[in-house]
Amino acid sequence: MRERVKVSTPGKLMLLGEHAVVYGRPCLVTAVDQRMKVIGEKVRGSGITINAPDVGIHNFEYKPGDEDVPKGVRFVVAALKNFGWQGGLKITTASEFSSEFGFGSSSAVTVGVLKCLSELSEAKFDNKRLFDLAYKSVLDVQGVGSGFDLAAAIWGGTLGFVTGGKKIEPLKTKKLPLVVGYTGIKADTTTLVKMVSQKREGSRKIVEEMFDRVELLVNEAKVGLEEGNWEQVGGLMNENQKELEMLEVSSIELFRLITAAREAGAWGAKLSGAGGGDCMIALTDNPKGISKAIAKAGGIVINVSSGAEGVRVER
Ligand code: PMV
Repeated sequence: MRERVKVSTPGKLMLLGEHAVVYGRPCLVTAVDQRMKVIGEKVRGSGITINAPDVGIHNFEYKPGDEDVPKGVRFVVAALKNFGWQGGLKITTASEFSSEFGFGSSSAVTVGVLKCLSELSEAKFDNKRLFDLAYKSVLDVQGVGSGFDLAAAIWGGTLGFVTGGKKIEPLKTKKLPLVVGYTGIKADTTTLVKMVSQKREGSRKIVEEMFDRVELLVNEAKVGLEEGNWEQVGGLMNENQKELEMLEVSSIELFRLITAAREAGAWGAKLSGAGGGDCMIALTDNPKGISKAIAKAGGIVINVSSGAEGVRVER
């Protein structure tokens, strides 16, 4: 049995289909090559210590049954509980990306911790079992979400995904010609998902029709991605952005960066994730020019590659 294990999981970017995916439509997500590292170490006794310096957690002693834990360790604790971990343990997390970007740090941590625990106990979960436990853990903490980010952290690559992991379809794509711009504003996914839910309650027909249109865009983009028809995918991203604007989840800052990318000649640009801030993405054959335009419009360009490997044990 292993005494110490280190795993890593990729961050993610939503390509198309955010929000609609919460209501049963498919989305497209890619794993990015900035990773979350999690180290799990068995220790003597029964104490559980958590270190997550990126989010200000230093030697936090978790007592099983303790409900009142700091925000920075909620996902780790949910994973420990759902796994049913028994015994002394030290968990340390370290991320290559800021938790502000919306790259899915909470999901990446949840998957990383569960993978560590399964290795340490030799439970050897397959990907689906890992997904189901991780999804339950995330829902325990935030109550809402499709789980697309967990799928990206586990399977990696570029995926077609339906809520709750009803469908997880690895796509055959080349590296996407992506440029990513961070708005500098942290989005609050739960608030935005709840806002969309309220909007849907108030105007069910209009919002459902919007989601139906997004589903068509996603299905077309899936083919475009597999064919490497970036220009077509870019156009579909622009269409998806229009729907997101109608849903009122975009923001001035996102709009500024998206417009700058398009005006500089990107095939397409849209927000990525819940909206309200976080990142926008652009598809382009001129990454330098588009990066410059995004930076000039006040964005922070983040260099990442798509289609990164899913969760793995580091040697
Ligand atoms: O804010 P992010 O990057 O976690 O993305 C949220 C995407 C939503 O579709 C709005 C919610 C979800 O869980 O699918």
